[in-house]
Amino acid sequence: MADVYTNPEKHVILHNNVKMPILGLGTSHDGGYSHEAVVYALKNCGYRHIDTAKRYGCEKYIAQAIKASGVSSEDVFLTTKCWPTDYGTNTTREAFNGSCQRLGVNTLDLYLLHWPDVPSGVRDKNSLLLDTWRTLELLLDEERVRSIGVSNFLEPHLEVILNECSVVPHVNQCEFHPYNNPKKLRSYCKERNIQFEGYCPLGNGQILTEPSIQDIAQKHSKSPAQILIRWNLQNRVVCIPKSTKNHRVKENSEVFDFELRTEDMDTLNNMTREIQIMDPSTIQAKIDNPLPDGYKLKLVQIPVEP
Ligand SMILES: NC(=O)c1ccc[n+]([C@@H]2O[C@H](COP(=O)([O-])OP(=O)(O)OC[C@H]3O[C@@H](n4cnc5c(N)ncnc54)[C@H](OP(=O)(O)O)[C@@H]3O)[C@@H](O)[C@H]2O)c1
Repeated sequence: MADVYTNPEKHVILHNNVKMPILGLGTSHDGGYSHEAVVYALKNCGYRHIDTAKRYGCEKYIAQAIKASGVSSEDVFLTTKCWPTDYGTNTTREAFNGSCQRLGVNTLDLYLLHWPDVPSGVRDKNSLLLDTWRTLELLLDEERVRSIGVSNFLEPHLEVILNECSVVPHVNQCEFHPYNNPKKLRSYCKERNIQFEGYCPLGNGQILTEPSIQDIAQKHSKSPAQILIRWNLQNRVVCIPKSTKNHRVKENSEVFDFELRTEDMDTLNNMTREIQIMDPSTIQAKIDNPLPDGYKLKLVQIPVEP
């Protein structure tokens, strides 16, 4: 995978010509964080893209993992996200600087607004979102970040930004797997040159035993996880599976040596069953709840402080 920036199959090109590796490594405060797995992904599997968020509380550990891997941080496409309690002109800039500091970089590759929701007390929600977006545009202009985007934004949320912005979001990161495939939203993004990025590509591990996915996996002598990741790639959706285990990190990277046939793609593209891993209705309470960033984080293996 080390040829991610030269092989067109392995990256997408954002509307400002930035190359974004189509396969990245997810990290999160859910299900643990493994220093060893992140080092292994960079050093042994060729991953050059890591997704994280201030909210996950693991940015400082990612900096340690990049350092330990021996891979230059300049070669790693780093995405992090601004949590809604940090929305606002100065607060977003402070959150951005804090993330850069913890990640050990001066510039980021992609900075996302984590959710379209804002704290309950805010009276003019759209105005706060627009002020925040303007701050991201300024950070882009100052070359502190190479691309900017949103996460969990549906069409009406995107409209708010698109009606006023000077820079159209480069990326929209949303839940995406065969049981949660927002086709209209994807078309909406495509028409506006917003790259669609999918999270929970394995349905958080909960859809790997689905018979239709297992059947396709058996046909290709691949694992269900590899089928789901490959389906993302053939749809040209940026994919960020997460694992805390080296052997799965490796398995999830071995997806460039086979191709799903049209009939397999049709089956996966047209699933009727719906499964939602992230329930947006739970987010407001999380935003209004004073729990600190990384409150759920469990270190699978505690990294040694440098
Ligand atoms: N923007 C947002 O609001 C948002 C929301 C959720 C997630 N995300 C991002 O998306 C990333 C991925 O989402 P996710 O972690 O929720 O779900 P996921 O990648 O769909 O699934 C991860 C789960 O699957 C297991 N797994 C990984 N590879 C496997 C394999 N080859 N075989 C069997 N099981 C496997 C992992 O367990 P082990 O660790 O035990 O391997 C973990 O429990 C996150 O890390 C985060 O970066 C963003």
